[in-house]
Amino acid sequence: MTAKRIGILTSGGDCAGLNAALRAVVHRAIRNYGWKVFGIRDGSLGLMNRPLNYVEFDLKSVGDDMLRLGGTILGTINKGDPFAYPMPDGSKKDRSQDFVDGYKELGIEALVVIGGDGSMRILNELCRKGGIPMVGIPKTIDNDVAHTDYAIGFATALNVAGEAMDRLAPTAASHHRVMILEVMGRDVGHIAINAGIAGGADVVLIPEIPYTLEGIARKISEVRAEGRNHALMVVAEGCKTETGESVTTLQSGGQARYGGIGQYLAARLAETVEAETRVTVLGHVQRGGMPAMRDRIIASAFGVYAVDLIAQGKLGRMVAWQHGQVVDVPITDVAGITRAIDPYGTLAQTARGLGTYIGEM
Ligand code: F6P
Repeated sequence: MTAKRIGILTSGGDCAGLNAALRAVVHRAIRNYGWKVFGIRDGSLGLMNRPLNYVEFDLKSVGDDMLRLGGTILGTINKGDPFAYPMPDGSKKDRSQDFVDGYKELGIEALVVIGGDGSMRILNELCRKGGIPMVGIPKTIDNDVAHTDYAIGFATALNVAGEAMDRLAPTAASHHRVMILEVMGRDVGHIAINAGIAGGADVVLIPEIPYTLEGIARKISEVRAEGRNHALMVVAEGCKTETGESVTTLQSGGQARYGGIGQYLAARLAETVEAETRVTVLGHVQRGGMPAMRDRIIASAFGVYAVDLIAQGKLGRMVAWQHGQVVDVPITDVAGITRAIDPYGTLAQTARGLGTYIGEM
């Protein structure tokens, strides 16, 4: 009997813990089932382009150093939807068939996709088109994938944001300043609210809860009245201005990316609050570096379970972390849904209970 061949790819923005998941998939597939595992390079591009771009993994190629290594050794892309692929002349081309043909050329029988909600949706459509059996593993520092308490990368990003708070607090106190920390998270505030609670923020702004500048100013006055000479604020990059506009910067290729809400708030607060304010934009340091232990554990558990799903013929599923267990859910239940912070849930109520200003519903 010939060994089963499976493929694995990473798609969307990188984060810490991706290599730990690759390692787990390879170990489980080879040790337990004797399968062959092919790593596809640069997300869907590895199967779309010719020659195909892939590597066959063996156990030696995914040693324990993979647990400690940030990023993804396979490479990834977070643009270039194969259904509307951007061509050099500015037009868009449907290149989905190139992907399906590449899959067949490589002769694999199932695909493990490590991605966020956007990648999960696109890859699921691609796999449906090609009749390709797929299993998904959720990753994103934003932690916004539906039906899973944790996605790979979130724990590391949170640790980085929490450490930034620890470093900002003493300098804020020394200079009697208001420090604003702008964190990533796209349209949700998981990093912001968790880092705010863990780091003792006075103000936490998340896209899920509207705020007023007056509310922030009031909180800063309260802090002063309590005898403290400095204040800490965390703002999620996806928060809008008081009048409801997103704050973005244009990247190469004309793509808009969140960024700048911290500076906006500092400028507006300068009009009402008499305090020196400084802004720190944490940016991509939240995605890189050595994975947190929690991410390594989640990634390992997800990788092992994903391979077992393929072995059981349970396809079209995404692995998920629910109540301390790995479970699986239909990928179709996840695609296109964003898991946001519940404005009345435990985290929001905890922050309010601590006296943190988190906006007004
Ligand atoms: O989705 C992950 C994420 O890091 C977001 O938090 C952030 O808005 C975005 O990706 C940044 O994307 P890029 O790496 O393209 O700048």
